[in-house]
Amino acid sequence: MADTPSVFSVLPRHLAIIMDGNGRWAQARGLARSEGHKAGAETVRTIVAECCRLSISYLTLYAFSTENWSRPKTEVSALFALLVEFLRRELPLLQEKHICLRTIGAVEALPLAQRSALAHAVRATEGNRAMVLNLALNYGGRQEILRAVRNMIHDGLAETSVTEEVLAGYLYTAGQPDPDCIIRTSGEQRLSNYLLYQSAYSELIFSPVFWPDFGVSELHRALQEYAGRTRRFGKC
Ligand code: FPP
Repeated sequence: MADTPSVFSVLPRHLAIIMDGNGRWAQARGLARSEGHKAGAETVRTIVAECCRLSISYLTLYAFSTENWSRPKTEVSALFALLVEFLRRELPLLQEKHICLRTIGAVEALPLAQRSALAHAVRATEGNRAMVLNLALNYGGRQEILRAVRNMIHDGLAETSVTEEVLAGYLYTAGQPDPDCIIRTSGEQRLSNYLLYQSAYSELIFSPVFWPDFGVSELHRALQEYAGRTRRFGKC
């Protein structure tokens, strides 16, 4: 039987994930990288449903970084096609579980079909209150901070009025708590431009498992590790 929420002494209010290893998962099976992304999209469904069941309030998934444009054109197109397909197929799940879909990143630069599908799903789920699912798309932490600074200048903010809280309010994640925990799959141990401002005190958890194989039990293992961490926020 699956663990119940009470098994975890503490759960992150905001969990963020770097879904890494789709390409290597496919390569290991002699498949095209796009097959790895396809399998990865299945994992997205599983992990979204489980996080919602566990009553995690915010889940942020790194689906496409500002650096991912440099991948082969065919792979970028496959990822974008997968996004539209995912939104079409999983919208009923989001509605059934009362999940509110949001995006972080420069989504205005995505192709029209992806922008339309996203706008539709975001609008359709905006009243849902069980969990916020942020899809990071064309997202980069440095770009996000630069955009915030530019917007503050544009709004004519006085030097003394720019506080940490004000700056946070100019980020894509405005109004949301910082991620308590960031999981990265596939054994890589870096943030790769993810949530650079918001991750100041996030607990980082690295799983050796490739994203397509990251199931409910791997998620639970990571959450148990998180529950065992002592968070001091710079204090002793
Ligand atoms: C990293 O694996 C993963 C990505 C760049 C894309 C993540 C996309 C998905 C999980 C599927 C689609 C998502 C949605 C929301 C529909 P990689 O390709 O860098 O793997 P590698 O490091 O093994 O090459």
